[in-house]
Amino acid sequence: MRILSGIQPSGTLHIGNYFGMMLPAIELQERGEAYYFIADYHSMTSLFDAAERRRNSLDVALDFLACGLDPQKSVFFRQSDLPEVCELTWILGTLTPMGLLERAHSYKDKTAKGISPNFGLFAYPVLMAADILLYDSQVVPVGKDQKQHVEMTRDIAIKFNLTYGETFVVPDSEIRESVATVPGLDGQKMSKSYGNTIDLFGEEKAVRKKIMSIVMDSRTPQEPKPDADRNLAIQLLKLVAPAEVATDFEHRLREGGLGYGDLKKALFEHYWNYFAPHRAKRAELAANLDYVNSVLQQGAERARATAGKVLERARRACGLG
Ligand code: ADP
Ligand code: TRP
Repeated sequence: MRILSGIQPSGTLHIGNYFGMMLPAIELQERGEAYYFIADYHSMTSLFDAAERRRNSLDVALDFLACGLDPQKSVFFRQSDLPEVCELTWILGTLTPMGLLERAHSYKDKTAKGISPNFGLFAYPVLMAADILLYDSQVVPVGKDQKQHVEMTRDIAIKFNLTYGETFVVPDSEIRESVATVPGLDGQKMSKSYGNTIDLFGEEKAVRKKIMSIVMDSRTPQEPKPDADRNLAIQLLKLVAPAEVATDFEHRLREGGLGYGDLKKALFEHYWNYFAPHRAKRAELAANLDYVNSVLQQGAERARATAGKVLERARRACGLG
């Protein structure tokens, strides 16, 4: 089974990225041949600072490796090390109806938020289709917000196959329902663009302060809370604490007697402990950047072996060369 996913180096990674995409991707590397990449071309649609892109790309590499991406098992690479993907983007773009792109939620959301649209932002799903199809990917683990992009990839692959003959594998998304949308500190979807994140590798004091400042209601600790399962801290605790601990907190909140301050303190402690091994690994990697760079370089070479074949197949199918 060929698995592929990417993550943009457009900001600091948060626990929504981790539980929604990185952890499922890391677990999947045991079940097939996984290709994971840093989507730096994608980040160009919204980030216009070269030094920041370079820094973020390295951070994503460190974060992903620290969380358990194993370069012996998976092919891990930087998207722009394979400019082949841009050629495939052009080829696929000529078969992509304007209407399909106009219906993209993420494009509509971003322009509605006042981001001034450029051609790249509009064409982004075609680049993502090229990312996926270039490696004959079958399974694409992503958070729920990316589902539509994978569906568009399917449409584009099917259209190409009908037009030029069977060429591309038609992929499926894999979305883990329990973490399809991790809520942020304000209860909306956790997202770096909403400023409501808990950073994956945040600084102790800063994260503690953020968690302790989660706004809750004004009910007293003694009051029973029948809606305990909808409490934001409980929902986040379920991600970072052992199941029986989270259930116990939920029970105590429901029955009454547990104060919100104590609940938030527990959330911080469990968050901090959950990521302790990852933090140690990250520090080790950060002290050995030559290793990290060599992983990406070897990843690019392995990715190129697959991409070269698929691109050649596509070029031949559509009468190029
Ligand atoms: P952001 O919304 O912070 O900009 P990205 O769009 O870069 O995050 O997402 C990178 C990956 O992480 C995608 O697969 C996305 O679906 C997943 N992801 C992001 N935020 C969440 C979330 N709150 N819950 C679950 N998955 C998420
Ligand atoms: N668009 C994805 C995001 O913003 C990142 C991405 C780029 C991706 N290409 C991909 C994810 C291919 C899966 C497969 O999160």
